[in-house]
Amino acid sequence: MGEKTHNVQFSRASEGTHSQSLARIPSWPLNCPSRYVDANSKTQADGRRGAPNGRANDHDFIDRVIARRSGRPGALLGILEEIQDHHPQKYICRDTLRYVALKTGTPLSQIFSVVTFYALFNQAPQGEHTISICRGTACHTRGSGGLLESLRLDLGLHEDAEGQQADKLTLTTPDGKFTIRTVACFGQCAMAPVVELDHRICGHMNERVLNREVEALNNAEKF
Ligand code: FES
Repeated sequence: MGEKTHNVQFSRASEGTHSQSLARIPSWPLNCPSRYVDANSKTQADGRRGAPNGRANDHDFIDRVIARRSGRPGALLGILEEIQDHHPQKYICRDTLRYVALKTGTPLSQIFSVVTFYALFNQAPQGEHTISICRGTACHTRGSGGLLESLRLDLGLHEDAEGQQADKLTLTTPDGKFTIRTVACFGQCAMAPVVELDHRICGHMNERVLNREVEALNNAEKF
């Protein structure tokens, strides 16, 4: 579909070349603007979604992912996706991107081009639940703008999101419960307007059903 491809050949020698630089990189969670805290933390509210393996082994985890995926087609995409998926708030911070760049011998500019090009990558912490509203033409003509506005008002999210265009939004509630995002098209135009609720595609959406679904997510048992 005309998307860029990012086949990367990693250089093993790069690990030695960058060993000094790597020594200066702080452990993953420490410099991330993150609520990535220990799973046993009782003092920080956001610790409810603590890391599956605690916070000690993030570099170990990344190293293992890189070792396992290096040399495969599309390795960089797979590495970044797995790292993001490992994070309880489903995002990759800049320190992590720098670490991946150094460990794989990939230019940091290339890493940034990947995470900014593909919509699946997040550079800010995501909410516990993600609601994606399609703003493609078919969904727009069938009222997705109204769904977006109504949901935004219901969740108390303001319109003037910093530096974001109205049709390209990612907003997270202050309590970290919900992230709202817009997408260009789900490829399900016959079911417009389309909304995705935690990876579940819902077609022919209307305000009443959306409110009900969001309420159900809000009341869902925390994990
Ligand atoms: S425009 Fe919304 S699914 Fe295609």
